[in-house]
Amino acid sequence: MEIIHSFASYIDQYKRSIENPEEFWTEVANDFHWRKNWDSVLEWDFHKAEVQWFKDGKLNITENCLDRHLPTCANQTAIIWEPNDPSEASIHITYQELYVNVCRVANMLKANGIQKGDRVCIYMPMIPEVAYAMLACARIGAVHSVVFAGFSAGSLIDRINDAGCKLVLTSDGAYRGDKVIGLKSIIDEALEKCPTVERVIVAKRTMSRVAMKPGRDVWWNDEVKKVTDSCAAEEMDAEDLLFILYTSGSTGKPKGMVHTCGGYMVFTNYTFRTAFQYQERQVYWCTADVGWITGHSYILYGPLSAGAITLMFEGIPSWPDMGRFWHVIEKHRVNIFYTAPTAIRSLEKAPLSFVKQYDLHSLKVLGTVGEPINEEAWHWYHENIGHGKCPVIDTWWQTETGGFMISPIANITKLKPAYATLPLPGIQPAVMDENGNELLANGVEGRLAIRFPWPSMARTIYGDHQRFKDTYFSTFPGKYFTGDGCKRDDEGYYRITGRVDDIIIVSGHNMGTAEIESAIDEHSAVCETAVVGYPHDIKGQGIYAYVICYDRPHEEDKLRNEIRELVAKIIGPIAKPDKIQFVSGLPKTRSGKIMRRILRKVAEGDTSNLGDVTTLLDPSVVDEIKAGAI
Ligand code: WT7
Repeated sequence: MEIIHSFASYIDQYKRSIENPEEFWTEVANDFHWRKNWDSVLEWDFHKAEVQWFKDGKLNITENCLDRHLPTCANQTAIIWEPNDPSEASIHITYQELYVNVCRVANMLKANGIQKGDRVCIYMPMIPEVAYAMLACARIGAVHSVVFAGFSAGSLIDRINDAGCKLVLTSDGAYRGDKVIGLKSIIDEALEKCPTVERVIVAKRTMSRVAMKPGRDVWWNDEVKKVTDSCAAEEMDAEDLLFILYTSGSTGKPKGMVHTCGGYMVFTNYTFRTAFQYQERQVYWCTADVGWITGHSYILYGPLSAGAITLMFEGIPSWPDMGRFWHVIEKHRVNIFYTAPTAIRSLEKAPLSFVKQYDLHSLKVLGTVGEPINEEAWHWYHENIGHGKCPVIDTWWQTETGGFMISPIANITKLKPAYATLPLPGIQPAVMDENGNELLANGVEGRLAIRFPWPSMARTIYGDHQRFKDTYFSTFPGKYFTGDGCKRDDEGYYRITGRVDDIIIVSGHNMGTAEIESAIDEHSAVCETAVVGYPHDIKGQGIYAYVICYDRPHEEDKLRNEIRELVAKIIGPIAKPDKIQFVSGLPKTRSGKIMRRILRKVAEGDTSNLGDVTTLLDPSVVDEIKAGAI
């Protein structure tokens, strides 16, 4: 499929993808290496929550990420690895080297009893071995379940047991800024409650002393020496499982989202090349961790299947100082930089000199993902990082969708700050009202659903298809429900307004917390904001804002008034916060999501049972917030 090169060709591809999806996706899929072609492109029934793409097509995703690039690109860099400590050397891994390492690790897994269909838990830092591990699983048809290395033993236990993992890949420890985290000891604690795990393979990274359990634990370095580096790829059906990735649900138990081989490969590759307009030999950097879907789809599978140069960063944005990202961009002459709004806002807090000391002119395209980006952060990013020249690609998607759904196409889609803009080809969004009616016009606001399947959508929740059906296909029968609210403006552009559970209804008016936050963030003294609703006698719900300022405010009430007036000006008097609490931090998960559940409880004046706060990045902010509650 020809890559989109103009707005007219976007309109043309989009139209074709809607009018004849099977023909459209056949054309996209024909660009890959299949051992055998599919018998049917698409079979689906959203009432049963069943979708199959490229049925009976046979392939191995690693042949598409590795083998097929070797004749032309064996010596081209596949992965640039940048370590946590800037004084340690970075590593360039060519496609040939990556291929050899993946084959060796694949053989290591086989030698340790892993076969096609077995589940392997990967609990590792951002080191090259984690990429080898994921691709090695894919090579032999084992199903990887990557658990973010910031999760605790309790989270590991749930995930390992739910998937019934047989083997765990981990490392002695992980670097995180100036800290060392003992990953192996967390695994040891978890495995006391994980009866399915027979083997643990431990890579060396921090050289920390770890306990090795005889009969269960072995060293990666020893094991890879025992095997050869040639490993034929397992032939997989397009609908065989590629991986499971857990995402949090509204009930406590995480949902194991299941992604399959064929459609996932086709869609992540297509969207990567389309949205970023990736050009051969460009250096692309996605700052996510491989523990999240962004790392799966847009550090590894999408870029590697496209033969790209993908940068993997072990460190954090704030160490050794707040200029670390900008330093890495200069050092590796990064062309495409993809990060999260939460990172942008925290770096924005630092003096601009941290940005200015680096040469960022290699940048061509910027991206964001994970939450609605407020306009103020969008502009800061666009102006200070992109020098006003790089488009900001605000990609809306989910763990469940596998790849980008609504996103600008670099240098082709007209941008609007804070808008994810237009659906990519193949994606048919629908805006629904509360009664389940589709709002067909432009200039509407409602809940975002998707009308038609796309190749990389999750197929089920591992072991619980009923929950999959209930969560995503029952709210609006016949449609996939995203859980997000959105606005479609007069031009058909989409703005994601946040999760619908974050919608506040004030005096009968429907308001997205993200929208109010974005307005408050416009105040020059404000760095970041979280808004929640709380019960209000007259209005139904009142608006409670938790506000972080660059500097602790001297005259709190004066600032409160300014903020209220600003919100009234930007959105309307109805959106004025009733209560404003100044805080120094917000309760965030390790992936940067604000835990609104906690903020809502405090706003309600009920601090007796805040639930589990152990998964927070910094649980101590909760005490401060409780103490300062208004
Ligand atoms: C939820 C999915 C997609 C990978 C990272 C997060 C929110 C994501 C955007 C965006 C506004 C966004 C949505 C979505 N979200 N990207 N560009 N603009 N909101 O994956 O953890 O599965 O979260 O993140 O609310 O439903 P996830």
